[in-house]
Amino acid sequence: NNQKNWSGRFNEPVSELVQRYTASVDFDQRLAAYDIQGSRAHAQMLSAQGIISTQDLAAIEQGLDQIHHEIRVGKFIWRQELEDVHLNIEKRLTDLVGDAGKRLHTARSRNDQVATDIRLYLRTSIDEIISLIRLMQRALLDLAEKHTDTVMPGFTHLQVAQPVSLGHHLMAYFEMLKRDIGRLSDCRKRVNQLPLGAAALAGSSYPIDREQVARQLDFEGICENSLDAVSDRDFAIEFCACATLIMTHLSRLSEELILWMTPAFSFITLADRFCTGSSIMPQKKNPDVPELVRGKTGRINGHLVALLTLMKAQPLAYNKDNQEDKEPLFDTVDTLVDTLRIYTDMLAGIQVNQHAMRASATRGYATATDLADYLTKKGLPFRDAHEVVAKTVQYAERKGCDLSELDLSELQTFSPQVEADIFAILTLDGSMKSRAHVGGTAPQQVQAAIKRARKWLS
Ligand code: ARG
Repeated sequence: NNQKNWSGRFNEPVSELVQRYTASVDFDQRLAAYDIQGSRAHAQMLSAQGIISTQDLAAIEQGLDQIHHEIRVGKFIWRQELEDVHLNIEKRLTDLVGDAGKRLHTARSRNDQVATDIRLYLRTSIDEIISLIRLMQRALLDLAEKHTDTVMPGFTHLQVAQPVSLGHHLMAYFEMLKRDIGRLSDCRKRVNQLPLGAAALAGSSYPIDREQVARQLDFEGICENSLDAVSDRDFAIEFCACATLIMTHLSRLSEELILWMTPAFSFITLADRFCTGSSIMPQKKNPDVPELVRGKTGRINGHLVALLTLMKAQPLAYNKDNQEDKEPLFDTVDTLVDTLRIYTDMLAGIQVNQHAMRASATRGYATATDLADYLTKKGLPFRDAHEVVAKTVQYAERKGCDLSELDLSELQTFSPQVEADIFAILTLDGSMKSRAHVGGTAPQQVQAAIKRARKWLS
């Protein structure tokens, strides 16, 4: 029979279009395992409180077990006319165990049920994402460790600024991801609160024990206001905001990998398995994966805005609008999981062209600041030193050479304070080595940072 379990007061069925328009089962069936988990905990509480009999509980549990199995092996028949995951499972339960199945929904509404399901789903997803970020961080550390001495140009305005090591550069991303984990962990606390017991919006007239259900489902606490519990999705919005930042970080790294791979830079090559060719230009090897990460970041930003917009004008309490929370949320999780997995593998397959990196740093007067600092240490006010070095760079530019290629007498025409010890300073390695405080690019500092990072990870 196709009777909906809420159709008692209706005189005509919904049209096929309305049925399709209002159904969510095509996408919310992925909540099935959490729905069953929540139902089990609810039923146990109902029985413990004497609201249903132990026989009913036994029947419900046995029915839920079977449904869980049917879903896992792909034998469960999902029916759009039953609207959503909750009603599909409840209907099957009733078909299997009769009246006991009909008693499961005592002291519960789909409103608190769905809020619980999403929170259980999101909690698991957050844990998975955190462990994937950690794997990616490990891959970053492995690559950084090999390149604490590898000189590359550090950029500002995408113009060569000062030499840094590739290891130092990569460790910047480690820091970003570390904060991302912090944000997710914080968000998880607010996700991890139990809505069940709020029922439709006002709570339940049965002697329910919400604390027991919370303990059973490993929630840290219960949502303290029934209206809030069923209606707000701020926890999902917050998660999506965390996701946009993670993607933003990965998108910036992607942009760099793409640049670094162009023949004009030739800093790196990505393993072939992350690239594709062109159907017309035989020479091409395109960095499709980082380009897609950059592209998918737009999509994840869109999901955040979708959820914010979904929420902004909803009066308390539950409105069907909230059914629209799922697809953006699920797609955010899926995209993030795939992106992190692929990135970890991609980092391991990066080949570094140290020669090209060094050559590029040499071309850009990357040690000009070091010359200015040198003169300042000899007593020249920094602003004057800045001026002197600017003139020296102009001269070297006209001559078509690096600062380190000028001879002492040439350098001295701009500033008599320059002595022979300047040449140790003007080298790329000398420049890097001199930035030897915590957070600086000196190889031994970067090694120390990597060591701290490994400890943090373990
Ligand atoms: N499928 C619905 C959702 O995702 C479940 C809650 C429905 N509640 C209701 N009163 N129609 O939000």
